[in-house]
Amino acid sequence: MEKLELLYEGKAKKVFKTDRPDVYLVQYKDDATAGNGAKRGTIRGKGAVNNQVTNHLMKFLEGKGIPTHLVEELSETETLVKKVQIVPLEVIVRNVAAGSLAKRLGMEEGTKLNCTVLEYCYKDDALGDPLVNDYHIAALGAATPEELRQIADYSMKINQELGEYLKTAGIELIDFKLEFGRDVNGNIILADEISPDTCRFWDVKTHAHLDKDLFRRDLGGEEEAYREVMHRLLGK
Ligand code: TMP
Repeated sequence: MEKLELLYEGKAKKVFKTDRPDVYLVQYKDDATAGNGAKRGTIRGKGAVNNQVTNHLMKFLEGKGIPTHLVEELSETETLVKKVQIVPLEVIVRNVAAGSLAKRLGMEEGTKLNCTVLEYCYKDDALGDPLVNDYHIAALGAATPEELRQIADYSMKINQELGEYLKTAGIELIDFKLEFGRDVNGNIILADEISPDTCRFWDVKTHAHLDKDLFRRDLGGEEEAYREVMHRLLGK
């Protein structure tokens, strides 16, 4: 498999074309940003953790019937994925109040929510990824109602399966962000990543942060926390 032209460089990843038209190569970086680019830095070893944790969790979810873009892990920081057309939505699933929800609704961080909350943000950096609902999504043409129903069903199932699995590693799944894409046949599949960059992971006993909030909030210890997540899930 040959790595060809750089297609896209984001905050945390680079995507390259390959010699297979239906397959892209993703390279995870150590670069970190927060607050829509307001804070920039590096978390040493992050790319390797996020790549391997994402692939581990996507393999787990495939086993539970969730279709994903994963093709093959190539190295510590590189993975082959199916080419998709990304649905321009960030799907956020929340079990416990934290972050922007805690702020917006005036809830204390750590309060268990009475039910799982699903939120959608429209992916547009210039607009700051605004929160949208089903009507906005239909009005924008970001996804069809059928696609959105599939996305919501998968997201709830992913929450259930991941939540149970992570608990066995002493990790509480507070909230997380997913992205979906359309494969070459137009089917909705899970894309992007599932990592300490995109999830809030709290230690079950101590409620210590094991995720990017350490970086976002200048708490420190993020390198160790990322390594700890990989150790708990992959044993390395
Ligand atoms: P929030 O509380 O800041 O809205 O974040 C909710 C979850 O979504 C949290 O686990 C972090 C994740 N997230 C991303 O991965 N990317 C983003 O751009 C945002 C805003 C949140």
